[in-house]
Amino acid sequence: MKVLLDAATQEAALRADVVAGLTAARKWLPPKWFYDARGSELFERITELPEYYPTRAERAVLTAHAADVARHTGARTLVELGSGYSTKTRLLLEALPLTSFVAMDVSPTALEAAAERIAADHPHLRVDSVVGDFTQHLGHLPGGPGRLVAFLGGTIGNFEPADRARFLAGVRAALEPGEHLLLGTDLVKSPRVLVPAYDDAAGVTAEFNKNVLRVLNRHLDADFDLDGFTHVALWDADHEWIEMRLRARWPMRVTVPAVNLVVEFTTGEELRTEISAKFRREGVEKELTEAGFTLDHWWTDPEGRFALSLARARS
Ligand code: SAH
Ligand code: TRP
Repeated sequence: MKVLLDAATQEAALRADVVAGLTAARKWLPPKWFYDARGSELFERITELPEYYPTRAERAVLTAHAADVARHTGARTLVELGSGYSTKTRLLLEALPLTSFVAMDVSPTALEAAAERIAADHPHLRVDSVVGDFTQHLGHLPGGPGRLVAFLGGTIGNFEPADRARFLAGVRAALEPGEHLLLGTDLVKSPRVLVPAYDDAAGVTAEFNKNVLRVLNRHLDADFDLDGFTHVALWDADHEWIEMRLRARWPMRVTVPAVNLVVEFTTGEELRTEISAKFRREGVEKELTEAGFTLDHWWTDPEGRFALSLARARS
């Protein structure tokens, strides 16, 4: 396992993010801090919830079209970003004529479990895992030939629009003309379906959302009372994104000793933890084109809930 994010760099980045986010007029925290070992496990549980349709819908598209991906790309190297446990990825591993698989994620626990399982199932495949941040380390990805970058799970929706453009341009810059990107995007649909996917009856998503506070308690010695916050998921129809927040149930004074911070919450005050943007074909095509890709194929599940785009790096 190659580690581009050592513990000291991570701690420094966490401190900087916490100071910036918790002293802002509208408090926020960046989503990558959800994913410690417990957070990665909780996310894996989210993917199995009855309300969380995106994983099942994306798996349906992969099942139907992995052979098309193989035919159109002939990829020999698969690079998966934000790979987590790479659960759906096995559909690609089985369909593509690969010699090498590279997974990059901020979560070493998830990477390790995935690499072990994949290496056992594919003894002739070279498997590399990289603990890295896909907003910083795309320049460290291995060379080709014939690379396909997969970015699944709708994780592209977790960027703000400007960061999304930067990310896509970064992926394009890391590729040679003719190489490919396979991008999973969740699609705009009724909030009656969308909201429960981010606010399930069993409360797993609420636990996942609050996990970011646990991470701050553990790494920065903060004293967040998790019971003092309610999980909120709401549909922002103007931006066409789901927004996740943690709402204070009563006034709180939280200390974060590692960064010398005291943070006040008033009753009802919200801390924004995540957006999950939902897409339409026109928007995805436009953003891919602007980043230097050509959209070659657009596949959805039969119910039109989730799309996979196969895009080619233009010269
Ligand atoms: N691809 C999986 C997991 C999606 S959840 C699926 O489709 O089910 C998002 C994943 O991205 C998590 O595994 C998380 O650890 C990872 N992640 C989040 N922010 C990241 C960042 N900045 N750099 C690298 N990985 C990140
Ligand atoms: N990429 C996932 C998504 O946007 C991440 C996710 C799912 C998530 N459920 C969540 C993030 C709940 C925060 C809270 O669907």
